[in-house]
Amino acid sequence: SRVKIAAGNWKMNKTAKEAVEFVEALKPRVADADAEVVVGVPFVCIPGVKKAVEGSNIKVAAQNIHWEEKGAFTGEVSGPMLADLGVDYVIIGHSERRQYFAETDETVNKKAHAVFKYGMKPIICVGESLTQREQGVTAELVRYQVKIALLGLTAEQVKETVIAYEPIWAIGTGKTATTEQAEEVCAIIRNVVKELYGDDVAQAIRIQYGGSVNAANAAELFAMPNIDGGLVGGASLKLDDFEKIAKYN
Ligand code: 13P
Repeated sequence: SRVKIAAGNWKMNKTAKEAVEFVEALKPRVADADAEVVVGVPFVCIPGVKKAVEGSNIKVAAQNIHWEEKGAFTGEVSGPMLADLGVDYVIIGHSERRQYFAETDETVNKKAHAVFKYGMKPIICVGESLTQREQGVTAELVRYQVKIALLGLTAEQVKETVIAYEPIWAIGTGKTATTEQAEEVCAIIRNVVKELYGDDVAQAIRIQYGGSVNAANAAELFAMPNIDGGLVGGASLKLDDFEKIAKYN
């Protein structure tokens, strides 16, 4: 059965020094966590955080990657650079990147290939806006996002992929999707993967929910059959909250 994954997405929060202090304090708290624990930190925090988590069960995610190996792409960070630092996961296609930094399903797909090429694993974010939900296109949209994101990946790669279903209206709003809404869309995502890659792969891939996950709602969400953990924003910046989420049981 699938190991649940509690991944923090720190977004643009914490300096390198604050990051190290935080993970040093987090380490003993989550040493016996039920979930696989991941911290998604700003690029500049990665070296310090990697060193701090050495020998612990905490894995490290970057929040973006460029799909090219190197070159004239001012301000970007490549797969080889992240792999060299020992990054485990890369969050790609977050709705904030789609909204503010012109990320598209096509660039998400290129990034997913780059992540695997350099030996890391992607956490691919998908999800609908409030308008799209009200228009009744959530299922179609999310199916499309998943299909394009996974294009050309092998079955083995898809098994190692994490998909985060993050309804945009639930991000940073304190408005969590109901457990039923979250489970429904996560099941739809698993079903697309089944159509594309077969049941084996669909049973292996991990599908998280994200959007106002907190210490109070994590257990109920993570107990759903198709929800394999959470991608956590605000609550991942607080030790008590993130500890409780990682120990949801
Ligand atoms: P919040 O948990 O702050 O709603 O953010 C969710 C998110 O965007 C995680 O990637």
